Amino acid sequence: MLNLTRKRELRAELAAIRRDGRSIALVPTMGNLHAGHIELVNQARARADFIVCTIFVNPLQFGAGEDLDAYPRTLAEDIAKLEAASCDCLFAPAVEEIYDTDLAVATRIHVPDLSDEYCGRSRPGHFDGVATIVSKLFNLVRPDLAVFGLKDYQQFLIIQKLVTDLEFDIELLGVEIQREASGLAMSSRNRYLSATQRVQAALIQQTLQSMRKQLEAGARDFRAIETAAKDRLSAAGFDVDYLSISAATTLRRAEPGERQLVILTAARLGPTRLLDNIRFALHD
Ligand code: PAJ
Repeated sequence: MLNLTRKRELRAELAAIRRDGRSIALVPTMGNLHAGHIELVNQARARADFIVCTIFVNPLQFGAGEDLDAYPRTLAEDIAKLEAASCDCLFAPAVEEIYDTDLAVATRIHVPDLSDEYCGRSRPGHFDGVATIVSKLFNLVRPDLAVFGLKDYQQFLIIQKLVTDLEFDIELLGVEIQREASGLAMSSRNRYLSATQRVQAALIQQTLQSMRKQLEAGARDFRAIETAAKDRLSAAGFDVDYLSISAATTLRRAEPGERQLVILTAARLGPTRLLDNIRFALHD
């Protein structure tokens, strides 16, 4: 596997790949790779000739007081996992390589509306940071395909919108959430959880599934279902940031008659912020 840190080298390597007519897939990450990330690499591997995985803990998407400094950095282990997954190229630049101006005055990409609620409300500026780094990576790598996880479903919709609106000629693939045996969505932040909290954390997915069952059984008072579910999580010690039954494509709060749904949540267990969602259609 090529292991690159400089933009110039990356561009040169990829120009040669393109000259050979080989297709390129991009898998952007912040590292501390787990089986969820590796599934993205596997899906990319099955669809493109040359796989570029990026590891970059993007300061622009962290707010003041968030875990930028504490974010786990495990480059040696990550390299071994990418090698084992037959990734062709790792691009792991330093911050100065990516942002060569004062961060405060760096150009930002803003995707309105989709960025406003949920994680956007509790993490102001977060999605501008994501949209900006993803756009920069798209321009650096110019992939045919870019692969993202549906665990960050709001992020996925925002990236879909920016690809359309900014005319990026890139196919997007969303990969289903990879979970622990308990149902807990895999996340780099799970390592902040104690052993007891890890067991407790499975309640998030159980709660989403029981909401889905109620909806599939015909319950339609979306707001009452949300409130009961939030109460259940709060009673178990979670600090629920949001929990919403929403329209799967617009993320607007679902109104009666909506068929394509997503239930999204973010909840804190101690200091650890956990995200999860499920998507499904109602058929009646
Ligand atoms: P990170 O949290 O490292 O996630 C990288 C990619 O892995 C994202 O597309 C995310 O949705 C996916 N992913 C994480 N956990 C997953 C799981 N359990 N199952 C399936 N996919 C999973 O998301 C980011 O980094 C950043 O915001 C980034 C897009 C790299 C921009 O900085």
